[in-house]
Amino acid sequence: MTEEIKKGLAGVVVDTTAVSKVVQETNSLTYRGYPVQELAAKRSFEDVAYLIWNGELPTEAQLKKFQERERSQRAVDDKLVQLILDLPKDCHPMHVVQTAVAYLGAVDPEADAEGPEANLAKAELLYAQLPTIVAIDHRRRHGLDPIAPTKDLGYAANFFKMVFDEVPAEEVVRCFDVSMILYAEHSFNASTFTSRVITSTTSDLYSAVAGAVGALKGPLHGGANEAVMAMLEEVGTADKASAWIDDALAKKAKIMGFGHRVYKNGDSRVPTMRKAFEDMVAVKGANDLLDLYNAFEEDFVGRKGIYPNLDYPSGPAYHLMGFDTDQFTPIFVMARITGWTAHIFEQQANNALIRPLSAYDGEDQREVPDDRG
Ligand code: ACO
Repeated sequence: MTEEIKKGLAGVVVDTTAVSKVVQETNSLTYRGYPVQELAAKRSFEDVAYLIWNGELPTEAQLKKFQERERSQRAVDDKLVQLILDLPKDCHPMHVVQTAVAYLGAVDPEADAEGPEANLAKAELLYAQLPTIVAIDHRRRHGLDPIAPTKDLGYAANFFKMVFDEVPAEEVVRCFDVSMILYAEHSFNASTFTSRVITSTTSDLYSAVAGAVGALKGPLHGGANEAVMAMLEEVGTADKASAWIDDALAKKAKIMGFGHRVYKNGDSRVPTMRKAFEDMVAVKGANDLLDLYNAFEEDFVGRKGIYPNLDYPSGPAYHLMGFDTDQFTPIFVMARITGWTAHIFEQQANNALIRPLSAYDGEDQREVPDDRG
């Protein structure tokens, strides 16, 4: 083989994007030019969703209109509610999300309509309905009836209300909102790239999003936030972290929530999410979990020099908010729908079919025998 193989496309620049910029050297991430930490400190997820799609932060009037559109589209149709209720209770919640996205594509007569306006309408519909879908799924697993969305609450507060039938303290809603801002977009990650590959075939937005959901589910990508919590629960207490890590490394296991393809010196989103996790610890008085978190991080980073990624603090933060562990990645979908669809718009606007080459290393060409022998 003479071709140079870039396994996992590592280091390959595939296309341009104006949605976000990840700078490895300076450990920074910007959405449309704004540092993500500043957005998390000063704006809501609704502002950031608007920014990601429209390129500019909304004015007061633009935000109001945007929120009105989102609130008016939150309710899902009865057939979709029934479809979710009929799925096996022990299936993974990401399969529920993927099924629901495919359903929304199937019933949208404009599913194949192209152009910025038609696509933004579909993206806004998914953004408005995904929280309702995730909440219905959560409740059915607990044997509870769905709670209809309300137009009186903001995006994050309405989600809590639909899941738990109550809106928690403002600090909790804010921590959740911060996580949504941090999860919204991250350039050509595996799921976003999947959505661009599907879009490049001139397939429709729902198909591209359903594919992206599948890519996000894996523990090397979005599924890591669930895996982190499962891991911390298995470790149990801070004093057991070191022995647990010894054992895991002896088995050559990957430690969930650590490492990143792009950031090698720390994920730029972690300090902001860590602070949100600490706020949750303060609200819930969960100091044992914080001790475990710190001991595990200190030990693993000390040994390997591999730093936490966003999933490390977000997993335990969602746990303290009361969400079931297997709903963490669907929550990630609720945020990333903004980034995925912004990339789908870009891909459509300047499309080239994504079709790489492979280096063949199988059998040499041979004749098909006349009989089966
Ligand atoms: N635990 C143990 N070792 C690790 C880890 C880890 N989490 N991450 C990297 N390494 C080691 C590898 O074993 C490898 O060592 P070697 O060179 O001795 O074989 C070296 O570091 C390089 O690792 P790669 O897997 O080749 O690096 P890559 O850039 O492909 O990996 C990835 C990035 C997949 C995220 C990896 O760090 C990982 O598996 N992490 C755990 C899963 C995770 O947290 N994923 C979430 C990513 S962020 C997100 O999606 C929001």
